[in-house]
Amino acid sequence: MGGMQLALAPMQDVTDLAFVRTLARIGSLPDVLMTPYFRSTRSTCVCSAALERLVEEHETGLPLVAQLAGSEPAALTRDARRLMARGVAGINLNAGCPSPLVNRHGAGAALLREPARLAAVLAALRAELPPGAFSVKLRLGWASAEEFPRLLEVLAQAAPDAVMVHARTRQQLYGGAARWSAVRAAAAALSCPVWINGDIDSPQRAREAAADSGCARLMIGRGAVRHPYLFRQLRGGAAPTPADRRRYFRLLIEETGRALEPPYRERGHCNRLKKYLAFCYAEMSAEQEWHLRRCERLADLESWLELEG
Ligand SMILES: Cc1cc2nc3c(=O)[nH]c(=O)nc-3n(C[C@H](O)[C@H](O)[C@H](O)COP(=O)(O)O)c2cc1C
Repeated sequence: MGGMQLALAPMQDVTDLAFVRTLARIGSLPDVLMTPYFRSTRSTCVCSAALERLVEEHETGLPLVAQLAGSEPAALTRDARRLMARGVAGINLNAGCPSPLVNRHGAGAALLREPARLAAVLAALRAELPPGAFSVKLRLGWASAEEFPRLLEVLAQAAPDAVMVHARTRQQLYGGAARWSAVRAAAAALSCPVWINGDIDSPQRAREAAADSGCARLMIGRGAVRHPYLFRQLRGGAAPTPADRRRYFRLLIEETGRALEPPYRERGHCNRLKKYLAFCYAEMSAEQEWHLRRCERLADLESWLELEG
């Protein structure tokens, strides 16, 4: 699959410092990383220490784009400036998050319901950011994909440097199937690169998503947590062996421990690991899942992940 560009999709509390450091150690990295969203409000930028550390300490050598969720142009440009000064490769506007908490403030996917506000936010960020540094991640619409052409007009007017489309509406949340073919209209309407996102979890699905959407740029979230060697495979690398899987889990345990702020307890370490494991249970037996969900000691977790030997 030559010529394909790959990005890790932002996933709050999942695509974090420990996860990206682990991807680097197993040699399965995308071309670009994106942080989960920093929430930009009128009074402040709500960002956890963990997000700040992802920006400062990811150690992968890859360009890292910081994502902002907000609906106030002045707040967004203030936070974009601050993050750019810290050396991020660019700023991404979150126009896709379906969380009621975020949407209540007019941010995330709620911007799709208010094209005039979306236009104002885009114009402010475009004026703030240098060429190459501004991208937008959105869904096909709030209630219906019929909203997409109008949203594309707003995007075309603002001229961002890249657009990532999660091929679902807000009302679909994470259910149903992503409609990759609906994203073709974006490539036709915009002069910037368009990334396809949603439900890409194997090399076969990657080829289908690229063919259906007409995009050679793929953004992958859950698929990369469930199948951490997916980026390596998409670059022509071998499918992972059981030994590769065990190596991944060992390194993830180590990196999760390294990323935790001391003092932390073993139970906290196990709970952190369960955030990633939640995406892997589908590949495991019901018994393994039942026990892993309840582990409070690392030794038990290692045993149920069958890491001995
Ligand atoms: C747990 C979780 C957290 C997410 N956090 C974010 C986020 O902070 N910003 C964002 O733009 N999208 C977020 N998303 C959406 C993903 O980036 C992506 O658009 C979506 O999961 C579809 O792609 P996938 O099927 O490759 O995972 C999140 C998704 C999940 C499941």
